[in-house]
Amino acid sequence: MEVVIAPAPELARLAAGAVEDLLRRRPDAVLGLATGSSPLAVYDELARRHTEQGLSFARVRAFMLDEYVGLSMDHPQRYRNVIDTEFAARVDIAPDAVQGPDGLAADLPAACAAYEQAIADAGGVDLQLLGIGTDGHIAFNEPGSSLASRTRIKTLTEQTRVDNARFFDGDVDQVPQHCLTQGLATIMSARHLVLLATGRGKAEAVHQLVEGPVSAMWPATILQHHPHVSVLVDNAAASRLQLADYYRGAYASKPAWQGL
Ligand code: GLP
Repeated sequence: MEVVIAPAPELARLAAGAVEDLLRRRPDAVLGLATGSSPLAVYDELARRHTEQGLSFARVRAFMLDEYVGLSMDHPQRYRNVIDTEFAARVDIAPDAVQGPDGLAADLPAACAAYEQAIADAGGVDLQLLGIGTDGHIAFNEPGSSLASRTRIKTLTEQTRVDNARFFDGDVDQVPQHCLTQGLATIMSARHLVLLATGRGKAEAVHQLVEGPVSAMWPATILQHHPHVSVLVDNAAASRLQLADYYRGAYASKPAWQGL
């Protein structure tokens, strides 16, 4: 696990750089897309590199982490629509190349199984962008999630609904109670995980993720078992890290040839 502590704009450039390096090596790579506010600056940077530098996503396929259950097709907070607005519509990725769990399916367990199969059929995710919830959730794997979980329906915690109410006119009652989410084992199958976190509100979750005991109570701690994780945090999100000086030193002395 590599921890990089840097100002937010640099974190976005680093994450976008990792995506760009991957696409230069493998133009038909499979990307894992996250929602929430944390990856937005990365999408801005990728859109800029597409427009100004010709970075192409034409052969890329992408899978989303999660989706609310029951939001209508045209709801602006339906994650599929968020990803279209923030990323897909701004680059040259094919419209049918982005997939997400179907939160409107009549048979939700079947939709989850189909989604797992689609990821497997694509050969798995090469690079997965991640945020982290204040309670340590990744995607929508809330505390108590099985560390071996696969895509399934979950009930959101009150904390997550309150955190996400800002996207729903500040009204927690408009935030759905249920979601479909890639499981922790699904996420762990991706070959490179790039997690972004900014702000003091994420400091405890980041501390647990990097330095806490692996536990379903802090679902992100499962990432300690992954061989290639980049944790990109600003000073505020790093404020509870016990080994912050070590991480800073290691990054400062990192060989120039070594990407994320
Ligand atoms: C939601 C998403 C997660 C995201 C989390 C944090 O719950 N399902 O994927 O990591 O929010 O969001 P933010 O980045 O806005 O703090």
